[in-house]
Amino acid sequence: MQHILVTGGAGFIGSHTVDQLVAKGYKVRVLDALQERVHPHGWPVYLPDSVEKIQGDVRNREDWLNALDGIDGVIHLAAYQDYMPDFSTFHHVNTVGATLLYELIVEHKLPIKKIVLASSQATYGEGKYRCSEHGTVYPDSRPDAQLAKAQWAVRCPHCDAELEHLPITEDVVNPHTTYGISKYAVEMTSFSLGRKYDIPTTNMRYSIVQGPRNSFFNAYSGICRIFTLRVLHDQPPVCYEDGQALRDYVYVGDVARANVLCLEDERANFRAFNVAGQKGTTGLEYAHLVSNAAGKDIQPLVNGDYRFGDTRHTVSSGEALQQLGWRPETSLEQTIGEYIEWVKEQPNLKDFYGEIEGKMRAANIIRRSNS
Ligand SMILES: NC(=O)c1ccc[n+]([C@@H]2O[C@H](COP(=O)([O-])OP(=O)(O)OC[C@H]3O[C@@H](n4cnc5c(N)ncnc54)[C@H](O)[C@@H]3O)[C@@H](O)[C@H]2O)c1
Repeated sequence: MQHILVTGGAGFIGSHTVDQLVAKGYKVRVLDALQERVHPHGWPVYLPDSVEKIQGDVRNREDWLNALDGIDGVIHLAAYQDYMPDFSTFHHVNTVGATLLYELIVEHKLPIKKIVLASSQATYGEGKYRCSEHGTVYPDSRPDAQLAKAQWAVRCPHCDAELEHLPITEDVVNPHTTYGISKYAVEMTSFSLGRKYDIPTTNMRYSIVQGPRNSFFNAYSGICRIFTLRVLHDQPPVCYEDGQALRDYVYVGDVARANVLCLEDERANFRAFNVAGQKGTTGLEYAHLVSNAAGKDIQPLVNGDYRFGDTRHTVSSGEALQQLGWRPETSLEQTIGEYIEWVKEQPNLKDFYGEIEGKMRAANIIRRSNS
């Protein structure tokens, strides 16, 4: 394989993946719609000059055909991701876009040797837990009536006992957002068509990806961006729920390395992998890491806000990908430090937090509990 197409290559994960492909000597083409709110100023300056750029939409047959001409391998990252309630867009962009890729390869007998697709930790929904009586369980989302009373624990679907969270392994999925469902639909479609037509395929279930170039024009709610912008403006970061919910965060350069590894390694064919961080971190711990890295002494705020439909503890196990030789190498402290330096370099920096939060409140996604 020599010629690689990266869709969404102007974006956050895409551009870091492009950098690593170029460094390894691949010829790289990018197909990107330059989604207005992610790229308000058009093509980003960080893409290397050697990269061929095509502006186009993964929902459009002609754009795909142009982009696939002469290509050996595809890393398909273009997607719609948000917390907003325009549910059908997730399927239009994510499910239809990926299905069209396979349809055109089959229809035009294109010689694509490998496809790596961006899936997500969101395919796991509420995740994996242990009940002392019923063993391993995969509960549904916590009811809003429970969250409104500031009762955050996840409870056993069989006996209502409080559950203990477990690292999420790849074997069971249970998506509960339209975004997560669209990503799982992409996985099922790509594996099914890939096997049927002999197109080696790998799906990457990223945890929360962090690092420089994570566009802060994107309304997708990245904790690093929001906490950093708050702290740099001397405002306390607001932790949802009680600040104790766990997440795992993975550095974007480590994610790019995982993409390239799975593109090249045949052992990854027809498998879905978690691309996980080093460990689980609470919202409160995260807030302190950001304050420390920014050199400020700002205590986080826990005011009873919660996000409708949010999960409690979501920490993936990276063991399967580690068996192929991948490790998350960059600590969260380093990642946050690098991100803050990058944010400080951005022109016209202002506090987007209020605007983003205002939109989410207006859409009734951030709610206030009766704590
Ligand atoms: N960032 C994360 O934490 C995270 C976590 C799990 C999964 N993912 C997945 O990883 C992939 C990359 O995400 P990212 O964080 O780099 O996002 P991003 O928004 O920075 O990049 C996505 C890119 O796709 C482009 N795009 C959007 N719609 C398009 C369309 N219809 N046609 C062509 N291009 C289009 C955008 O212009 C953008 O450049 C996505 O598939 C996302 O769902 C990201």
